[in-house]
Amino acid sequence: MKHPTSRAMISATGMSVPDKVVTNADFERIVETTDEWITSRTGIRERRMCAEGENTADMAAEAGRRALEDAGLPPEDVEILILSTATPDHLLPATACEAQAILGCENAAAFDISAACAGWLYGVALADAMVTSGMHDNVLIIGSEKMSAILDYTDRTTCVLFGDGAGAALVTRGNGNGRGILATHMRTNGRQAHLLWRPAGGAAMPSTDVTRSEHMEYVKQEGREVFKQAVVAMEDSCRRVLEIAGMTISDIDLVIPHQANIRIIDAVTKRLEVDDERVFVNIDRYGNTSSASIPIALDEARRQGRVGAGSKLLMTAFGGGLAWGASVVVL
Ligand code: ACO
Repeated sequence: MKHPTSRAMISATGMSVPDKVVTNADFERIVETTDEWITSRTGIRERRMCAEGENTADMAAEAGRRALEDAGLPPEDVEILILSTATPDHLLPATACEAQAILGCENAAAFDISAACAGWLYGVALADAMVTSGMHDNVLIIGSEKMSAILDYTDRTTCVLFGDGAGAALVTRGNGNGRGILATHMRTNGRQAHLLWRPAGGAAMPSTDVTRSEHMEYVKQEGREVFKQAVVAMEDSCRRVLEIAGMTISDIDLVIPHQANIRIIDAVTKRLEVDDERVFVNIDRYGNTSSASIPIALDEARRQGRVGAGSKLLMTAFGGGLAWGASVVVL
């Protein structure tokens, strides 16, 4: 057992989205909706969708491969591969095992975590604990979601919201220069689980002809209620995590919120009194990619030069569970 030496830090990132683009105009042909409704109510203009045979593990492995390339780390050096997903390719084994095989992380232990949209942030907290405790040096945390596989394309209130994609980060030992994961805050309210769920298809209600005919394997959401709770919870988590980190919002270079709805992002950041220039938004191009949304946004922010080594980030997520949280990270 190694002793704790320093902070854990996010030292590399990667992302992967399918090539296929589905626009709001495409949805006008599938359900009774308009580009105007979707854009004004959500901020989404288009999203990506997996091709036939393209799965959660494939996107995860590609995002992970790019993060390892960014780090210059061979796949064999990854010790732990954590995959956050609400859309596992199979119920058994974990999709992380399939991603491990594709990636060639042959010395890693691999497992999935399930915390819906907050899953990647929860995974970062786990990776942080593993590295700072001295248990491991190289932890790959991936969020990968094939939301198109669990959407009801007859339900206009959910099917227009989500997209497919994956994002990844490598968590390693800090370099002693102040970089690192400074603080994380996580909360769950299981009493509200029914506000966002898939009623059938699990052990409690296996699929039958009846569940299938009633579309109970697909995502159901009480959108208005989830919206209200998301705003309050994300603001609260952000304030708490800033306090734990000993910072104020003015110390933060970029806020990376979960991309569920531009109106949620606007409401949270307005309450936090952070100007738009310090908020990362890409929901217009990808929709809600659940737990992939923050790592995709983080990778884009780095590649666009919006942030780099030393930048102070506030990341926050909210989703099914209900589960939410926030992290303060010095890149
Ligand atoms: N096109 C046209 N009309 C629509 C559509 C659509 N695609 N969807 C709903 N409508 C209609 C509704 O039927 C309703 O009509 P009615 O007034 O005649 O009944 C009207 O638009 C308003 O519906 P609301 O649900 O009140 O619309 P709202 O402004 O709340 O927007 C939305 C809905 C986008 C779902 C919003 O509530 C939201 O973003 N909720 C939170 C989503 C979220 O953050 N989820 C958590 C993360 S996801 C995860 O964890 C996997």
